[in-house]
Amino acid sequence: MNAAPLGHGFGHAKVILVGEHAVVHGHTAVATGISTGIAVEARPGNGRLRVPAWGLEARADDGTPVGRALAAILRRLDAPAVDFEGDARIPSRAGLGSSAAMAVAIARAAAAASGRVVPLETIDAAVQAAEEVFHGTPSGIDAAAAKSGRTGRFSRAAGWKPIPVLQPITICVGLSGRPRDTAAQVAAVARLRDRLAVAGEVLALLGRLADDAAEALAKGDVDGLGRIFDAAHGLLAALRLSSPELEALVHGARGAGAIGAKLTGAGGGGAVIALAPAHERDVLARWKAAGFEGFTAQIAAVPAQEVAS
Ligand code: MEV
Repeated sequence: MNAAPLGHGFGHAKVILVGEHAVVHGHTAVATGISTGIAVEARPGNGRLRVPAWGLEARADDGTPVGRALAAILRRLDAPAVDFEGDARIPSRAGLGSSAAMAVAIARAAAAASGRVVPLETIDAAVQAAEEVFHGTPSGIDAAAAKSGRTGRFSRAAGWKPIPVLQPITICVGLSGRPRDTAAQVAAVARLRDRLAVAGEVLALLGRLADDAAEALAKGDVDGLGRIFDAAHGLLAALRLSSPELEALVHGARGAGAIGAKLTGAGGGGAVIALAPAHERDVLARWKAAGFEGFTAQIAAVPAQEVAS
């Protein structure tokens, strides 16, 4: 029989609304932590991790990336001997921040299992160490959104700042079925920027669109946000981050009534997001008919007073 859990932790899946890749190069991005994600339980044990939905089994320091990430978290937290079991409600490597959500959930469960008060900065450092194992030099936006579960503006210099959202907004999330490789896509953009000066300007424009998206969210301007999604997708495609599957999802969404659609996350594979007020079911049906899974997620409303301080 399983021993009683010593601690629980949850990490939110994230959707980057605008500014992926730009954020790696110092510009702004806007992301939202959605309500689904991964829940982790810690029980007495010796550093094993199981996430059945992802077919994942690892042990701290078993030499695999997951094992090394787990070991990094446990070292930073000076955690007791525990095993972790994850209940994942999102696919892994789909552009939805699965690794950051998992790292946040594990770090929170390990901290709870320790019975000590663990400073938030220590948890943050543990999550960042795990993300560096997976993604090299991540900007930190995935981890910030996985912790927050709200909508925020992020830059390397300023970190995560929650932003106001006038009204809840439903987005459609479509899965390409092709795993994304964040480190490879980030490296490809860096190479392109070295060879093509204008790529740096494209990244800066994506950062400006992220600022525009923050304004549109604050005003409840869903049409404006749709146009920003379309423009951002064009710029991301100019950086060679799209793929035949992502294009099929974007064009399928627009054909089913979406007012804007774009790839989200690292690109190459992964997911797209679409804004299709009153046509969400049409978009999901169009994607399903084309062989793609999808679901809806909410950008929750956040009153301006809540983020004023
Ligand atoms: C990946 O979800 C987002 C990227 O901007 C990488 C990063 O910010 O570390 C592509």
